Amino acid sequence: MTTRASSTSPESCHATLPLSAIVTGASSGVGLYATKSLTERGWHVVMACRDLAKAQRAAASQNISDAQSSLLEIDLGSQQSVRHFVAAFVATGRPLNALVCNAATYQPLLKTPARPKAMRSAWRPITWDTFC
Ligand SMILES: NC(=O)c1ccc[n+]([C@@H]2O[C@H](COP(=O)([O-])OP(=O)(O)OC[C@H]3O[C@@H](n4cnc5c(N)ncnc54)[C@H](OP(=O)(O)O)[C@@H]3O)[C@@H](O)[C@H]2O)c1
Repeated sequence: MTTRASSTSPESCHATLPLSAIVTGASSGVGLYATKSLTERGWHVVMACRDLAKAQRAAASQNISDAQSSLLEIDLGSQQSVRHFVAAFVATGRPLNALVCNAATYQPLLKTPARPKAMRSAWRPITWDTFC
């Protein structure tokens, strides 16, 4: 018995697109260089950043072209922003082959986790259900 995807299946729709990754915090440091490395290997990277102007300058500084990457706004301190990002990403029609959860600030000397004010009262971990 053989199986094959129908011509309208998601697999066949994505067959002609390059592998896609979302990299959060792609506007500097590890996220920016991960983006550069992935695009050099043929991936399309969605740079998920809260400061799009900064992200655009960062991409230009590394010669990452608009064809290799796209910018989508996200502030990971806001669930509303995360949901907006997810809707915008789904609307692109791109597959999601890798999700690089990089964005954060590195503050090893903090005694307790620093959370945005809006999340302090009803904080819960972000899981896949958060996006559904
Ligand atoms: N550097 C180290 O020694 C070290 C050590 C251990 C772990 N890490 C971890 O490695 C990751 C990258 O570190 P890095 O040194 O590359 O840091 P970085 O250069 O400061 O980059 C952090 C990135 O995360 C973004 N970001 C922060 N908060 C965000 C939010 N609420 N919503 C959206 N984006 C947000 C920043 O955006 P903006 O540009 O808008 O601020 C920036 O693009 C972090 O998770 C860090 O904790 C780093």
